[in-house]
Amino acid sequence: MNPKDHWEKVYSKVPADKMGWYEPHLRLSLNWIQGLGLVKDAPIIDVGGGSSTLVDDLLDAGFSAITVLDISEKALMSAQARLGARSKGVTWLYGDIATIELPRERYELWHDRAMFHFLLAEEQQEKYLQQLERGLTPNGHLIIGAFAPEAPPQCSGLSVRRYDTVDIESTLGPTFELKRCRKDLHVTPGGVEQMYLYCHFMKVG
Ligand SMILES: C[S@@+](CC[C@H](N)C(=O)[O-])C[C@H]1O[C@@H](n2cnc3c(N)ncnc32)[C@H](O)[C@@H]1O
Repeated sequence: MNPKDHWEKVYSKVPADKMGWYEPHLRLSLNWIQGLGLVKDAPIIDVGGGSSTLVDDLLDAGFSAITVLDISEKALMSAQARLGARSKGVTWLYGDIATIELPRERYELWHDRAMFHFLLAEEQQEKYLQQLERGLTPNGHLIIGAFAPEAPPQCSGLSVRRYDTVDIESTLGPTFELKRCRKDLHVTPGGVEQMYLYCHFMKVG
């Protein structure tokens, strides 16, 4: 099954708050984002944001230039339905991160929780990194959350690549300067423990 079909099927079968990765609030992401000192109209993109509540919390925090990108149209529609009229203030990009055309050097923050870790082949990672380098402003921020080595080998029934700090730093390469990493334990709505590694990088200007 191709990735788009996989994700559309997942989002049509399971309610958003029963997905394995669901959190009522992405507290660590929010906390780090609020600590970056971004102006409220700084362009922010949540890549593989799906139906995550991060966009709701960023709107509540006053951010006004938020983009949510996902390969699943159903996931984006679910987030839009939850937000109601507020969804009109968000840019929704529906497509595959490998191929979608993103504006050059637009985003001051690129957030990714649990999307990058699905990219197993070097070629897929390369395409993602090209998009990341193109889309982020010089000195832009990257906050990325991926499964840590002690997490299960699969997420949503798909194999994932698990990262420690050394791996993620070397995978991202010299264009990204590591600022900090920490682990964060997520427990799925079904009670399964998934350890995430969260890292903050800055694109070298
Ligand atoms: C595990 S979910 C995480 C969702 C969200 N980031 C969160 O933390 O709640 C992974 C998300 O990545 C999206 N996704 C997977 N592959 C993608 C791709 N190639 N391009 C864009 N989105 C993708 C899926 O549709 C799904 O919404």
